[in-house]
Amino acid sequence: MTKVLVTGANGFIGSHLVDRLLEKNYEVTALIRETSRLGWLKNKPIRMITGDVRFPDTLPDAVKDQDAIFHVAGVINGKNYSDYADTNHTGTKNLMNAILKYNPNVQKVIYLSSLSTGGPTTPDHPLTEADPSNPLTAYGKTKYAGERAVLDLHNRLNVIAIRPPVVYGARDLGTLGFFQLVSRHVRINLGFRDRYVTMIHVSDLVDAIILPIETETKSGEFYYVSDGTPNRTWLGLQKIIAEALGIWTLKLKVPLTPLFLYASVMHGYQLLTGIKPRINLTRYRLLTQHAWTCDCTKIMTELGYKPKITLEKGIFDTVEWYRQIGWI
Ligand SMILES: NC(=O)c1ccc[n+]([C@@H]2O[C@H](COP(=O)([O-])OP(=O)(O)OC[C@H]3O[C@@H](n4cnc5c(N)ncnc54)[C@H](OP(=O)(O)O)[C@@H]3O)[C@@H](O)[C@H]2O)c1
Repeated sequence: MTKVLVTGANGFIGSHLVDRLLEKNYEVTALIRETSRLGWLKNKPIRMITGDVRFPDTLPDAVKDQDAIFHVAGVINGKNYSDYADTNHTGTKNLMNAILKYNPNVQKVIYLSSLSTGGPTTPDHPLTEADPSNPLTAYGKTKYAGERAVLDLHNRLNVIAIRPPVVYGARDLGTLGFFQLVSRHVRINLGFRDRYVTMIHVSDLVDAIILPIETETKSGEFYYVSDGTPNRTWLGLQKIIAEALGIWTLKLKVPLTPLFLYASVMHGYQLLTGIKPRINLTRYRLLTQHAWTCDCTKIMTELGYKPKITLEKGIFDTVEWYRQIGWI
């Protein structure tokens, strides 16, 4: 049995990863914070170690004696730059230093990166690994710095990064608001042109994250991953959600100028109060890019990745799960 450490194990993606690793008989250790909610890990046969990647002293016990390490922990919804940087960049460096010091012979380290590290693109060019990385947001920049902190060690450790686009599925709070909006009979487009996005169901993502420890890989590589269809329009995606919900919806095109003014006001409000609103200028820039898309050919050809969950099935299952738990 292979011993693996999962950071971020109690979160949306981390908890699905833990479930799959247990199904596959891995011996799982979870790095958990004192404040972490443990609902998705309840009654699971795993070893838990309390630690926080921001604090190096809390990491040695977690990394020691592991055959592989999945670094999934990350801040996806920080209040300011240092919120993101402290965990996504400095925290990742701390973890890598602990691995170098306490487990330099670990077989593989997998970093869960993000499409945000590549940055936005145009609909005719879903990002590939050959494209330069141009992160746009604090999240993207700090995830990229974290990715570099891992991949730059490629001569000393066996390291791989996976860059997922938007991830959805049961337990996800990140895309929940989007499902809730559609459940109120509204489908929204920002501006008057189509905007594009790539998606992946968490089950396919978990396959892609485990694949590098079950396959020969070249240290230092990174891979985009997706459901195999690079270009989805936001409106098309919302239509599939509406169909899964079995409801009618009104299509609403929101003009960008008033939205920009509103985002500016809310940005000022955040600077004054420290309270993060639903939309600020950062989020406005993020949401109004023409395309956040990527191509997963490299991981398919090099590692044999094969997406199994179509968007229609994945959305249907997610709606069912949200309904059962009462989130929509
Ligand atoms: N969701 C997506 O669409 C998406 C797309 C691309 C990449 N990703 C990446 O996937 C990873 C997991 O995201 P998610 O969607 O599962 O988010 P999530 O549910 O918020 O999970 C984040 C996890 O990271 C842990 N964490 C945060 N700061 C930490 C710290 N300083 N030390 C130790 N653990 C810490 C959290 O623990 P607490 O519960 O204690 O806060 C939680 O377990 C992130 O690295 C993110 O960048 C996500």
